[in-house]
Amino acid sequence: MITARRTEEVRRTRSRIVNQTIGFVPTMGFLHEGHLSLIRRAKQDCGFVVVSIFVNPLQFGAGEDYDTYPRNEKNDLNLAQEAGADLVFLPGPDEMYPKPMSSSIRVEKGTDILCGASRPGHFDGVVAVVTKLFNIVQPDFAYFGQKDAQQAAIIETMVQDYHIPVTIVTSPTVREPDGLAKSSRNVNLTAEERKKAPAVYRSLEAAVDQMLSGEDVKDVLAVCSSRIAAETGGQVDYVELCTWPELKRAGQVKAGEPLLLACAVRFSKVRLIDNIIFTA
Ligand code: PAJ
Repeated sequence: MITARRTEEVRRTRSRIVNQTIGFVPTMGFLHEGHLSLIRRAKQDCGFVVVSIFVNPLQFGAGEDYDTYPRNEKNDLNLAQEAGADLVFLPGPDEMYPKPMSSSIRVEKGTDILCGASRPGHFDGVVAVVTKLFNIVQPDFAYFGQKDAQQAAIIETMVQDYHIPVTIVTSPTVREPDGLAKSSRNVNLTAEERKKAPAVYRSLEAAVDQMLSGEDVKDVLAVCSSRIAAETGGQVDYVELCTWPELKRAGQVKAGEPLLLACAVRFSKVRLIDNIIFTA
């Protein structure tokens, strides 16, 4: 496995790959089974797999957890290699942002709800770094997790908007045995919070059942939000229902229309997200 810290090294390796499809898994590191499932899937589909590890300052707002975001480069390299990565790109901030950006891609649709509403500018930072990485790696396929469903939908739309020659593949959320969605941020839960956190997914599952049995969407969302707050002790940022993958707020469940039920919950040191995509 090749490790590269500089764009130049990635380009050099990339230019030598002519007869293989290239799969790309962008990450912020502190790899877990969720990331590894994407790397394995990429390895199944593609001849050459590139993984990037970069905690992107541009997608963190003031007061968010950029400084406390967990990092473990050595372990990440071992895990990426075992999962089938051929090249890991580990740029520093100076490599990705050698000077302040003088242009930006502003995400205009699908950001008035969910994390777009509670983290202003977050998705602009995500598409900035993902566009840079796409231009550096030039992959045929790029792999994203459903865990960050809004991110995956926004990137898919951005790729269409800008005719970026890459196919976006979205893969299911990998969970702990107790249902908690795997996340690099889970290590920043206290022991007590970690015990209670699976109630997030349990509450989403219950809400989906209630909506499928015809209960009023507004009532179900309110009950789900109170249940998450009561059972986790966390502060609910949002529990929202929207159309998938268009990300338009949905007030009712219509047969045959895919929906995304998503939530974000603030714990003492960390904010977690989770979701379920379902169709009635
Ligand atoms: P990060 O949170 O490290 O996630 C990298 C990729 O792994 C994303 O596509 C995310 O959806 C996926 N992922 C995370 N947890 C998962 C889980 N439990 N199951 C399946 N997939 C999971 O998302 C980012 O980094 C960044 O925003 C990035 C796209 C790298 C841009 O900086």
